[in-house]
Amino acid sequence: GTTLGASAAERGRYFGTAVAASKLGDSVYVSILNREFNMVTAENEMKWDATEPSQNNFTYANGDRIANQARGNGSRIRGHALTWHNQQPTWAQNMSGSALRSAMVNHITNVATHYRGQIFSWDVVNEAFADGTGGGRRDSNLQRTGNDWIEVAFRTARAADPGAKLCYNDYNTDGVNPKSTAIFNMVQDFKNRGVPIDCVGFQSHLTNSVPGDYQANLQRFANLGVDVQITELDISGANQAAVYGTVTRACLAVARCNGITVWGIRDSDSWRTGQNPLLFDNSGNKKAAYNTTLSAL
Ligand code: XIL
Repeated sequence: GTTLGASAAERGRYFGTAVAASKLGDSVYVSILNREFNMVTAENEMKWDATEPSQNNFTYANGDRIANQARGNGSRIRGHALTWHNQQPTWAQNMSGSALRSAMVNHITNVATHYRGQIFSWDVVNEAFADGTGGGRRDSNLQRTGNDWIEVAFRTARAADPGAKLCYNDYNTDGVNPKSTAIFNMVQDFKNRGVPIDCVGFQSHLTNSVPGDYQANLQRFANLGVDVQITELDISGANQAAVYGTVTRACLAVARCNGITVWGIRDSDSWRTGQNPLLFDNSGNKKAAYNTTLSAL
């Protein structure tokens, strides 16, 4: 193929990007989006603060704008993210206990129902594990509602949209390390107990290198009976182009790796300001990293 999306499709995969609704009027942005990508993630527009700015008052205009644009282009959609400790509306940040638990369940039910039938996979829970060597949960208002909040979130999402794959998504999980192993253990426990989980997302925000056991780490999750997806790829540093190639080959080498999503189109679209971690330069020209990615597909 001559584009990322078409080449990935030839390998039975997708190639996606994060999209910002505010950029859908930028013709350079939209032409690259429509040409290269066949999976879309809303960069911010489906998060809790965006979709439920006041309690039980849901706003979907910007999320729908992205979903409609994707549908018009024949792209599928990764829903991101039903629950997260960041980008919660202030009213939820200030809640705790059973009131917060109920608000979480209501949020998941409403958002997943609104987008029911449109979502390839949902990030049901984002970034719930702590960094470092402890292998524990991240402290958050959601975690303080009880350790079972993650499985409640997955069961709630399944009931609201039975057709979407349900993912756990996190960062610093790229190699075998205490954090990824803690998530691995949770997924294994969920599979053993019949808690509905279908996929694990590896954000893969990388700096100049990727752990040597990246592919092996994806494979050990796949061996549990879940799909794996690379969900927010961006790579800074002088080795950028080579590392993009390595990551792409790792996904293709794992049968259950569904596809790769990069976290933005042009370097100027990246949340990593000044790090130029993406595949297109500020003018929308293909970078060396684009070429290594396309040739790896
Ligand atoms: C980032 C967005 O790119 C920014 O625009 C926003 O200000 C903060 O969030 N992990 C995630 C993403 O799961 O939702 C984050 O996106 C990047 C880190």
